[in-house]
Amino acid sequence: MNLTKTHKTLQLQIEFTTYCNLRCIYCCTLSSDHKRRSIDLNAFDSYISELVSRKLQYVSICGYGEVTTVKNWQNYCNKLIDLGINLQVTSNLAKELTEEEVDTFSRCTHLNVSCDTVDLELFKYFRKGADFKTLLYNITMIRALAYKNKRLPPQITFFCVVTDRNVFQLNDLVSLALSIGVKHFHFCNFCKHDIEESAEINPIADMSTEHLVKIEGYFQTLFSLIEQAGGWYHYDFNLLEDIKQKLNENSSKKSEIKDSNTKDTSPTISQRRKTRDCLLPWSYIYISSNGEVRPCCILFHPVGNVTGGETIDSIINNEQMLILRNQLLEGNLKAECLSCPEAGWITIEELKRKVEEYILTDNQATDNYLKHRQNFVEYQYDPLELQRSFGGLIDENQVLKKELESVKVDLKNIKSKFYYKIIFKIGDLYRKAKRA
Ligand SMILES: C[S@@+](CC[C@H](N)C(=O)[O-])C[C@H]1O[C@@H](n2cnc3c(N)ncnc32)[C@H](O)[C@@H]1O
Ligand code: SF4
Ligand code: SF4
Repeated sequence: MNLTKTHKTLQLQIEFTTYCNLRCIYCCTLSSDHKRRSIDLNAFDSYISELVSRKLQYVSICGYGEVTTVKNWQNYCNKLIDLGINLQVTSNLAKELTEEEVDTFSRCTHLNVSCDTVDLELFKYFRKGADFKTLLYNITMIRALAYKNKRLPPQITFFCVVTDRNVFQLNDLVSLALSIGVKHFHFCNFCKHDIEESAEINPIADMSTEHLVKIEGYFQTLFSLIEQAGGWYHYDFNLLEDIKQKLNENSSKKSEIKDSNTKDTSPTISQRRKTRDCLLPWSYIYISSNGEVRPCCILFHPVGNVTGGETIDSIINNEQMLILRNQLLEGNLKAECLSCPEAGWITIEELKRKVEEYILTDNQATDNYLKHRQNFVEYQYDPLELQRSFGGLIDENQVLKKELESVKVDLKNIKSKFYYKIIFKIGDLYRKAKRA
């Protein structure tokens, strides 16, 4: 069997734009060579119909820009959702969303929201042009609308860039998130670009030894907090690994960070006979805003361009892709695969078996999002949690306060129906307060 060709592409990641409404001080979009452009969405339908015929299941809209700045972005997302495709969107949720936009977000399966702190001033400092209260309001409206329409809200993940400025405030971020139903966290290691704006912030690995030692225990407590709330977390491989290395270098203290996510980056001699546990070149493609197609997020060199008249089908099985798959199958890896932070190690036989299974079966990979949907039961909400989330806003309003108190009387019977009613009331108040 020819294992280098693939007849299905389950996942698409697509960058709609590199324009953004914010100027986050750590983002490479601030660099002088950042190119601003948007994808040709006139061709969107044809990309999708080609991929649907290749059994597309999952689309992720993400890139170096902000999707909500694209005119009518929600219409493209709605088309995908209407086709039964699971949609994940990454957004800063910084603007005041229209009802249509809230509706689209509420219909996504996954929503990644960038949020590094709940400290109002620090939030403004990091994410220039954004206001934490708007983000909070948007999240709550999105979740509420899903309940109103008797749907499961999207699984929201906070994407948090960890720096020396916010690391010791992460417990506040996690606590607030849990209180509003956000239970998933991705902790990104701050990657320092050569831009003036981020001159004063640093990766945590650059902190003093005293701090590094403290950070070890801090993350353990943070992770337990998430686990105890039934949440999930993930962190960039090098976030804690860099600290471990620094501490070892200083050789004053030994790191004991529990790092279950550790993936090797430098192969040992036995690993050299192995290969990467990676099906992405078979199952996934990335289309950037200039039409370039890439086989994964790590390999930056494009394998084709959809704006140049090439079909997606022809790119997916072109010579470059066949060579890449063959390299993985033979364990003859290119430099990026050798040092890949995304994939673990596996024997060549095992990868072949996985590829064969991928090609032969039409079983769709059961990802977390599917399990998440299956496990859905109607939640019960504690209005006190709402009160904590909206703090002053509720205290200022006697009618709402009374309403919340009446809910509390019947705490055991609060269903989602009631929850969204309260949230919408809070939404109205918030809008009124902003107008005044
Ligand atoms: C580039 S953004 C694009 C999507 C959208 N504009 C947003 O901010 O959610 C994707 C993710 O990368 C993170 N990010 C940006 N600059 C980073 C850096 N220098 N180091 C680590 N993560 C960074 C952002 O916080 C965000 O969560
Ligand atoms: S919102 Fe996203 S793309 Fe825009 S500047 Fe911030 S991190 Fe970069
Ligand atoms: S760089 Fe990593 S994710 Fe990309 S193909 Fe290689 S192993 Fe897979």
